[in-house]
Amino acid sequence: MADEAALWELIEGDCFEVMANLEAESVDMVVLDPPYAKKFAWMYGALAKEAARLLKPGGSLLAIQATGTLPQALADIAASQLRYGWMIAMQAPYGSHGMVFGLEVEITWKGMSWWTKGKPRKRGRLASDSFICSSTLGKELHRWAQAEEWAEYCLGMTRVGDSILDPMCGTGTLGWLAVQYGRRFVGIDNDPEMLEIARRRCQLAEAYRLEFPPAETDLTQGKMSY
Ligand SMILES: C[S@@+](CC[C@H](N)C(=O)[O-])C[C@H]1O[C@@H](n2cnc3c(N)ncnc32)[C@H](O)[C@@H]1O
Repeated sequence: MADEAALWELIEGDCFEVMANLEAESVDMVVLDPPYAKKFAWMYGALAKEAARLLKPGGSLLAIQATGTLPQALADIAASQLRYGWMIAMQAPYGSHGMVFGLEVEITWKGMSWWTKGKPRKRGRLASDSFICSSTLGKELHRWAQAEEWAEYCLGMTRVGDSILDPMCGTGTLGWLAVQYGRRFVGIDNDPEMLEIARRRCQLAEAYRLEFPPAETDLTQGKMSY
């Protein structure tokens, strides 16, 4: 992947072509946030297949799921040989995820499925299976920008120094926090305008970067194991 010293790298291009050239088993986490329209639903299977190659053993795939295409997306990801972990609810109690036309449903949550390459690597901390996205920070940059709470949640499932790949990084919400929290971030997008926003956020994040000791501590303190 990126040069060892680089904290972050942004690559303009088609994510499938770029991913095909990345080194196998070089990434600790892959996070998917494709466009939600039905015509993009096929991407989940293809991206999961590539993620299965790129992830280190025990590494994680997190995939935000459009609820309308959930059955197909889950079946396609399952075919990638990644191991199903759990479904996480991203709640937006104020209805900020929008509405479903034709069904008269207001969307107050989205699912994010969690998959691992074999047995999940120990993180040393618990992860809740739901969280609230109340922030609309970033939406000024682009309407597709995810809430920062989403990025925080994803990063909470990684450790300092981990490599995170976001193949459709958009405005770089994940990179913005990943760099601050000492993770290595690689983002790909085929839209140069989105990538420029991501670039500015990653550059700014370097100024806010915190120094951490290596993450060795078991933060669960024996509360639960499964
Ligand atoms: C839902 S947005 C991601 C939003 C991002 N998580 C954020 O917080 O800004 C989906 C992104 O996928 C990108 N995209 C769509 N098809 C792509 C492809 N084949 N290769 C790379 N990027 C692609 C779009 O340009 C868009 O920025």
